[in-house]
Amino acid sequence: MIRFENVGLRYDMGPEVLRDLTFEIRARSFQFLTGPSGAGKTSLLRMLFLALRPTRGTITVLGRDAATLKRTDLPAIRRRIGVVFQDFRLLDHMTTYENVALPLRVRGKDEASYRQDVIDLIRWVGLGDRLDAPPLVLSGGEKQRAAIARALIDQPDILLADEPTGNVDPPLARRLLRLFMELNRTGTAVVIATHDLALMEQVEARRLVLGDGRLDIYD
Ligand SMILES: Nc1ncnc2c1ncn2[C@@H]1O[C@H](COP(=O)(O)OP(=O)(O)O)[C@@H](O)[C@H]1O
Ligand SMILES: [Mg+2]
Repeated sequence: MIRFENVGLRYDMGPEVLRDLTFEIRARSFQFLTGPSGAGKTSLLRMLFLALRPTRGTITVLGRDAATLKRTDLPAIRRRIGVVFQDFRLLDHMTTYENVALPLRVRGKDEASYRQDVIDLIRWVGLGDRLDAPPLVLSGGEKQRAAIARALIDQPDILLADEPTGNVDPPLARRLLRLFMELNRTGTAVVIATHDLALMEQVEARRLVLGDGRLDIYD
């Protein structure tokens, strides 16, 4: 679904922070992206999401060379990739319901066509009693789940999550992991960037491990 070939990345005139990355994220796959802080996990996720261009190498997304995509092609491709940012990026003046519904509203969909889907998804992530609450009154774990619901509302083929358990206690981290696995069973490819070893020990899954700018893969 997404393929990297000899991808390298540097910021400005700095050293290459990622080099010679060659790997594939397959449809319906589940994997952790790991490595110490500063290893390049967030940078790699941003390239997967086409928010950051590599300085060398080739990225192929859904069969198309990312370098040749036109700006007008991007929204349709990004819609198939759900992203949960480390800092959530929820809008403070909107309720949980409005935040989760936003991607559909932006696309001009009629609210009647999605209202129940939004409510069902918010219940699925365990926020059924927080529908009308703004982010300011949500706990870190609740914001995390709202951000996950927003990433999923448009039924992406692939979900990218950046340190999704970074702000939650271990029981909730396990719950979130189960949520991601359930999502994966329904056919969505999942990439979880994390440096939480305890979390990764809970499931047998492919690991993409970043260190010294390079990637090792453990299938
Ligand atoms: N916008 C940026 N400009 C310059 N350097 C950056 C930028 N973002 C990240 N870096 C550098 O790239 C390296 C990888 O960072 P990052 O992708 O955030 O790693 P991780 O998510 O694994 O902690 C770090 O050395 C970081 O300082
Ligand atoms: Mg990071």
